[in-house]
Amino acid sequence: MKNVIERLSGGRQEHIDRLVEWLRIPSISTDSRRNGDVRQAGQWILDELSASGFDARLDETAGHPVCFASWTQAADAPTVLIYGHYDVQPPEPLELWRHGAFEPTLEGENLIARGATDDKGQVLALVRGVCGVLQEQGSLPINVKFLIEGEEEIGSPNLAPYIESHQEELAADVAVIADCSQFGPGMPAITVALKGLVYLEIFVQGPNRDLHSGSFGGSVENPANALTRILGSLRDEEGHITIPGFYDRVRDLTTEQRAAFAELPFDDEGYRDELGVPQLHGEAGWTTLERKGARPTLDINGLLSGWTGEGAKTVLPAHASAKLSMRLVADQDPKEIEALVTEHLHSLCPPSCTMKVSTHHGAEPVLVERNSEWLEAAARAIEKGFGKAPVYIHEGGSIPVVSDLKRILGIDTILLGLGLPDDNAHSPNEKFHLPDYQRGIETIAWFLDEVAP
Ligand code: BES
Ligand code: ZN
Repeated sequence: MKNVIERLSGGRQEHIDRLVEWLRIPSISTDSRRNGDVRQAGQWILDELSASGFDARLDETAGHPVCFASWTQAADAPTVLIYGHYDVQPPEPLELWRHGAFEPTLEGENLIARGATDDKGQVLALVRGVCGVLQEQGSLPINVKFLIEGEEEIGSPNLAPYIESHQEELAADVAVIADCSQFGPGMPAITVALKGLVYLEIFVQGPNRDLHSGSFGGSVENPANALTRILGSLRDEEGHITIPGFYDRVRDLTTEQRAAFAELPFDDEGYRDELGVPQLHGEAGWTTLERKGARPTLDINGLLSGWTGEGAKTVLPAHASAKLSMRLVADQDPKEIEALVTEHLHSLCPPSCTMKVSTHHGAEPVLVERNSEWLEAAARAIEKGFGKAPVYIHEGGSIPVVSDLKRILGIDTILLGLGLPDDNAHSPNEKFHLPDYQRGIETIAWFLDEVAP
């Protein structure tokens, strides 16, 4: 391993240069005008893998292509499937970026660009680490497959069918994903829970056209008033969700889990100040970390109605709509919650309006099996790569593929986090801390060594 680590460490600048090149490709999966760029980003990682000795190809799906690559010449050795995504979130609002979102810029030890941490930087760390081992040793100690998709940020709509139809090729003993974060600087982590997701859009229709609010107000319901009344009733003042049946399947935290949460150093005041809010907010009876990681939530993600241009327009709008999402925890079932919430919304629609509810994407909550040799091997690898043993954390984000891998291939996933909580994923000035990029590259090399027969 000494030679491997020396090679990886000597390649520091090249690792960065390659990442910068990949980050320049604006692979925004939700924007159909960027379809060509998305494909190019998939092709880019394919080229990177095949140049290093992997069998790699781009497979078509009904949406953006999947990059699949494998090196499977290690007889009688385990197989690890590494998943990542090469698509990114839209960069807007552009005016808040200090540099172009797709013009990667170094600020001290951080690289600033959309996708830097989520997920190009993290997935490239795993690719560079594995490929470095292959180049140094001429072979890998275990079998490695890569599944790198271009639709994670839009809910992976075509990935489950892809996995279904490539089950044999994707067969593995365990999956590894680096698309999370550390607990904080100098505190590497393994994520043991992710939240699930149900994302709905609600349309409320009032009169057949916008009306003069003086002439007509008071005689027809305003759909914006109706919708906000409905939305306002979905949670109480502390954020406890009031939809009947919503909590029925929520698994309570065990005493050990609550103790583990309490052991993590967390500064509520610092968190409050960093976010610029006068006070934190959330369900009574739970700590901030528990609210973030282990309790379901409901948030309005977008709200649209009436006059939003400059100045005032006295209008009674014809329609109002909202985007609404719920983050779920084990053992809530997204399909069941979707049906329950949709029915509840309809029951709240006043007879003076009509309502339509449609579903965007979803994901199942994830709870990782804690007593596993794979997890222990990952912890030892992190300790070698980061110089510090990991803590175990619950994250509020979602990664749809994890439950697909379990359901279809029967495998568990190890969730590594190379990023930091303040990396600005999905926000302006997304960053990746380059020393952690390097540590991640070395950690995956150690992991291969740890799980080798
Ligand atoms: N990297 C995130 C998931 C994540 C976020 C893990 C925070 C741990 C902490 C991932 O790329 C993501 O953003 N997923 C989406 C999934 C959705 C579109 C189905 C999310 O969580 O919003
Ligand atoms: Zn993301």
